[in-house]
Amino acid sequence: DAHLKGKDLLGMYDLSKNEIAEIIKFSRLIKRIGTYGGGYKPLKGKTLGMIFQKPSTRTRVSFEVAMWQLGGYPLFLNKNDLQLGRGETLEDTARVLSRYLDGIVIRAYSHEDVQILAKYADIPVINGLSDFEHPCQVLADFLTILEKKNALAGLKLAFIGDGANNMANSLIFGCAKMGVNLAIASPKEYQPKPELLENAIFHAKTNNSQIIVTEDPKEAALEADIIYTDVWTSMGQEKEEIERKKIFSGYQVNKELLEAAKPDVIVMHCLPAHRGEEITDEVIDGPNSVVFDQAENRLHVEKAILALLL
Ligand code: CP
Ligand code: NVA
Repeated sequence: DAHLKGKDLLGMYDLSKNEIAEIIKFSRLIKRIGTYGGGYKPLKGKTLGMIFQKPSTRTRVSFEVAMWQLGGYPLFLNKNDLQLGRGETLEDTARVLSRYLDGIVIRAYSHEDVQILAKYADIPVINGLSDFEHPCQVLADFLTILEKKNALAGLKLAFIGDGANNMANSLIFGCAKMGVNLAIASPKEYQPKPELLENAIFHAKTNNSQIIVTEDPKEAALEADIIYTDVWTSMGQEKEEIERKKIFSGYQVNKELLEAAKPDVIVMHCLPAHRGEEITDEVIDGPNSVVFDQAENRLHVEKAILALLL
């Protein structure tokens, strides 16, 4: 037992290998017992606040539905409807919400906001995406990989795109801890920061896996079991969109790139996708794509997270 009760879930950086394994194991069980869980309502009477500074389809809906299906009550809190939007501090918001709620999900621009909320709240805080990490997504991705490939350790995952964004970071920390070999292909200025890689390489070594970074998407995709991509322009970076489209134009996941990978490669994307940019219609709608299984697994994983933490 990884003793997750009462803890925060801020990132793959903060979770141990055992905790990651525990969440995935429990999400498989929860998925098996199904939507209404045969009366399994561990969160009866509990409430979850959901503070969102940015838009969301999957994170918002999966957490709301997860909370409801487990017997609890979710409150969606748009930042601008809270006094937070008029300048009340995050610290005070955290202290007040801790008197009402049993847990908080926050989607923030700055990871520091997630950390401040966690520091001042007495209840578990879950990162529903920040500029630094997107742990709930990677946990759902690991569940998906396990279902499709029956393993995590020893597989090769190629991440093609912005190697410095939240998805890349969470995959780097997560793969290193679970023994997944990771190859990241990004333009030079969008590769992972050395200090971040250093931490991940330390974990990868103890798990006998490798992390490589290259500018060449084909080199990354070579013999890959999984090809993963994400948008070139993340939320909050809209001003850079035109420039990024140019810089990343050679980093598209298309049929030609898939040919470098293993024939049974699975193609993953956290969604939302910018079709025709980082991924073609042909590939995202093709036989190797598992993107909607990933999206579904968000629900099962959010249930596991909530049941374990709250
Ligand atoms: N993948 C993901 O987190 O999607 P949303 O932005 O729709 O929540
Ligand atoms: N990197 C993307 C992920 C969206 C789920 C973003 O931050 O916008």
